[in-house]
Amino acid sequence: MRKGYFIAVISAIFFLVFFVQLGCSEEGSTKPKTQQEMIALGKYLVHTSACDDCHTPKIFTQDGRMMLDTTRILSGHPQDQVVPPLDKSELRMDWIAGNMGLTAWVGPWGVSYAANLTPDKATGIGAVTEEMFIKTMRDGKLKGVGRGLLPPMPWEVYRLKTDEDLKAMYAYLMSLKPIRNQVPLPVPPDKADAFLAAK
Ligand code: HEC
Repeated sequence: MRKGYFIAVISAIFFLVFFVQLGCSEEGSTKPKTQQEMIALGKYLVHTSACDDCHTPKIFTQDGRMMLDTTRILSGHPQDQVVPPLDKSELRMDWIAGNMGLTAWVGPWGVSYAANLTPDKATGIGAVTEEMFIKTMRDGKLKGVGRGLLPPMPWEVYRLKTDEDLKAMYAYLMSLKPIRNQVPLPVPPDKADAFLAAK
């Protein structure tokens, strides 16, 4: 009798613990993330997905190491930075060149400049909605609806991210300090030679 009672109590405790845990894990996977959690996830994704490589200006240490300019995170090619002259014949055929900060690129498409991804309304993506941002990253179009994005923006890689990842990245970008930086317009291929030689 006593033994039966003991087994019943142990079983009850076991099932209680089992179902409480089940409830917790189910809740964990379906509970929508708060805005703060989305921003934290977006921060992690943006800074582990190479966005800084092209979109953040760089500084160089005395021994030549390249570092991110943390005062201008993700603000794109600096508006006052002139792209140095380039003799394309020296590049040999079919090469692509990047400037020192990796924010400006020369190739068969002409010259392209990494965009300002801070939420400045006039010069960044402050006027871009979440939907437009997702379309930009998935369809490779400027502001999601404009001309095709030029290389080397790797949207074909980023288009594979989940909706939640892209939403989180957008939430993080919108939480950044807006930086006013008017990135130059791209230079088409037929004007690129004269443009690069003239500087
Ligand atoms: C290898 C360089 C490179 C990397 C890495 C890169 N980008 Fe870009 N990105 C560019 C360039 C260059 C442009 C401008 C293309 C153009 O003018 O057509 C651009 C444009 C964009 C635009 C379009 C802005 C607009 O006004 O519509 C968005 C958004 C963007 N990038 C987001 C990102 C995000 C987010 C990441 C990281 C997940 C990233 N990029 C990584 C080079 C890069």
